[in-house]
Amino acid sequence: MKRLIAAVFASLGLTLAMAQVPAPAELIPADGTPNITKELSRKIGGKAFAKKTASLPAFAFEQAYELTVTPKGYRVQANTQTGYFYALQTLSQMQTCGTVYDYPRFQYRGFMLDISRHFRDKDFILKQMKALANLKINQLHLHLTDDAGWRLQVDSYPLLTSQAAWRVGSNWQEWCNLDRQYSQEGAPEAVGGYLTKADIREILAEAQKLHMNVIPEIEMPGHSREVVFAYPEVGCREGSYELCPGKEATFTLLESVLEEVIELFPSPYIHIGGDEADKEHWKTCPDCQARMKAEGLSSVEELQSYLVKRIERFINAHGRQLLGWDEILEGGLSPNATVMSWRGTQGGLEAIRQGHDAVMTPGRFCYLDKVQDAPIYEPEGFGGYLPLDVAHSYDPLSEIPEDSYGHLLGVQGNLWHERIPTPEHTEYMMYPRVAAIAEVGWSQPSRKDGFRERVTRWNDALIAAGYNAFDIKKEMGERPAFKHGIRHAAVGKKVTYKEFWNRGYPAAREATFTDGLGGGWSYGDGRWQGFLSDIDVTIDMEQVQDIHFVGGTFLCEPGPGIFLPKSVEIWLSADGENFTQAAVVPQEIQKPSQSYVLFGAPITGQARYVRFVAHPSRGFQFLDEVIVN
Ligand code: ACM
Ligand code: ZN
Repeated sequence: MKRLIAAVFASLGLTLAMAQVPAPAELIPADGTPNITKELSRKIGGKAFAKKTASLPAFAFEQAYELTVTPKGYRVQANTQTGYFYALQTLSQMQTCGTVYDYPRFQYRGFMLDISRHFRDKDFILKQMKALANLKINQLHLHLTDDAGWRLQVDSYPLLTSQAAWRVGSNWQEWCNLDRQYSQEGAPEAVGGYLTKADIREILAEAQKLHMNVIPEIEMPGHSREVVFAYPEVGCREGSYELCPGKEATFTLLESVLEEVIELFPSPYIHIGGDEADKEHWKTCPDCQARMKAEGLSSVEELQSYLVKRIERFINAHGRQLLGWDEILEGGLSPNATVMSWRGTQGGLEAIRQGHDAVMTPGRFCYLDKVQDAPIYEPEGFGGYLPLDVAHSYDPLSEIPEDSYGHLLGVQGNLWHERIPTPEHTEYMMYPRVAAIAEVGWSQPSRKDGFRERVTRWNDALIAAGYNAFDIKKEMGERPAFKHGIRHAAVGKKVTYKEFWNRGYPAAREATFTDGLGGGWSYGDGRWQGFLSDIDVTIDMEQVQDIHFVGGTFLCEPGPGIFLPKSVEIWLSADGENFTQAAVVPQEIQKPSQSYVLFGAPITGQARYVRFVAHPSRGFQFLDEVIVN
């Protein structure tokens, strides 16, 4: 174990200066310079500590530890080797002498890496595992298969790797633009790769040392275009994105793959995906229709549920538990399934209500593919803004009835890789936000104070050790108009609408454009009002006055279909009846990436009523304030 400590130090370059992340349950500091290299005593499985921790839930008992660091060395007590391992992680972060008594809030503290959209190799994964283990993350979920590439050696279906692991286009976006074509191993244009079974064994051996479980995800029945490409007999028809639950060939393939997966991975959980299956082909596929008739299924949702239930029987018969995205609730949840809630928390809450276990990974707090700082300066994300503080603010128990707490296994951060072409970019998106997720999963809410200072030290050490983490010291934070507001002459004035906003994006309704509150980086933050129609509003300034400027900032985010207006018109009136046009502001150029563009004009005129009209170009237009001066 000493060698392991040395290895952890060496690989992370950890120093005495690190603060504790995640925050421990109790820390009593003492004077002196800590000696973290000399172990004075180690008691694993002793009676005294078992007594001290007897009232903890079983998982917390098993991971608890007490660490005392003095100028002479350190002492550890734990009930298990896992507790001892966590003591060493904390030891690596001790800045002062003292005693730490610690145990986790949740049993499941996860991170998901998508290695389908852009492949990440064994060495990269091993490097991340060390940092994750230092944060006491104990579940590494590998999204191994998806349309963009199959990433796991399967001996019984070799085309999954010789063909479906390779594609054209240097990155995911290019592959999409090139019509999602696959290639073959060894072809000059082939981009991709996969983990061999030997790679997986190495990852699993390291995981065992790091007291981490590796959960394999084999996606079904959606996100499976690469499988249908390699083995067309498992699709409703060629080029289908979904597996065909009507055909026996599909179950033969899935069970054969899962058999190899179960043989390879010791994980108690096998993740079967289950999300976002487009079930349209099933409605016309003769095999799917025959299956529905034979099984008495009345909807395609029930047909998906049939597949998941049948796969669950197979997984359970092999002594494992099925884990799936929250869509597995639709059409009826299989009897023993655990639900991973990603479309908000509703799926997890519903699973718990039905007596199942759940892991929370709601997009708003846990999707690390969102940008973490001002999107105008960040590399492109997948849409949305998730700064460190927001990830850290999440409380997975906040909506759960107290008598069901035991069904909430924990929390997970997900890093989807559509827009993350390089390994450096992966690290940039992971750190330090995954430390926020780790603290949500490990620490009691009352212990979460001072996170920014603690995580900054941890993150600086990580950067020094050669990780391409985002330098949180340089964070700009929210859009200035959101943080500080906008002062102008129309604040508090009444606005009348000719056309109302889109129901999904009301912001503050009639108050939105004159409340002095600017929108943030994200269109969904409740400050931006969204329209699929013209914006046509009139502001009553209450008395005739000089007008020098009228304008408003529009958000452009092509991903979710939000664009700049085609043009903006500004009209003035003294009586609210007769308007004269004061300015027309044309769109100069449609921005290709996320941006915030002021459409406004200096004006010389007098008015009581100011009318602001914006014509959409395509899709949505989003506006936060109409500024009048
Ligand atoms: C997911 O984000 N489609 C699970
Ligand atoms: Zn079918």
